[in-house]
Amino acid sequence: MNSFTIAIDGPAASGKGTLARRLADYYHLRLLDTGLTYRAVGHALLTHGLPLDNESAAETAARQVDLSNLDKHTLSAHAVADAASRVAVFPQVRKILVDKQRAFAAQPGGAVLDGRDIGTVVCPNADVKLYVTASAEVRAGRRLRDIESRGGHAELAEILADIVLRDARDTDRADSPLRPAADAHLLDTSEMSIEAAFLAAKSIIDVVMAKRSTA
Ligand code: DC
Repeated sequence: MNSFTIAIDGPAASGKGTLARRLADYYHLRLLDTGLTYRAVGHALLTHGLPLDNESAAETAARQVDLSNLDKHTLSAHAVADAASRVAVFPQVRKILVDKQRAFAAQPGGAVLDGRDIGTVVCPNADVKLYVTASAEVRAGRRLRDIESRGGHAELAEILADIVLRDARDTDRADSPLRPAADAHLLDTSEMSIEAAFLAAKSIIDVVMAKRSTA
């Protein structure tokens, strides 16, 4: 198989990142968590003490984003996630980052990309598009368990409020809002384990791969 692109979209804490990693490992594809690119822009503004509505500073930061140097640990902070969803509304920031994401996807060998607009904007010709979702309550519960498993503490109600706010920002923005592509396979993981979600995705992908190899 020359090149195979898997596009995974979905709201915050839907499990799309974990699924993307499992699929990339299983199919030996390169992986890009595009959320990290928006987080890198938000992080740059926070680090320089710049307001998050400073569009030209956000554009400059977007140009400087280096896909080979995205530090997941530094970018995982809650304040960075919030900043990312604010700078993600700027069309110029999106254009700059989408160009970099497309260049990543176009490299030989194929790739898995996860985000909010992969199937709709970044890779509209992806071989497989998955839209991973779960109820806000389930996503909040997963995030709480994740925080607690790393020794942290948080309030479920606060996490839920944050998820609802971020969903609204991602879904309501004018440029490339979060929505499933018309040809995306919907995967509601509210009542699915990670393993079950992986197996469901794998069976969709295997069918497409088999068709491709006999075409
Ligand atoms: O997936 P994440 O939580 O790391 O994403 C952080 C923010 O980045 C998210 O709230 C919206 C933005 N984002 C986006 O607008 N488009 C993408 N493809 C990925 C993320």
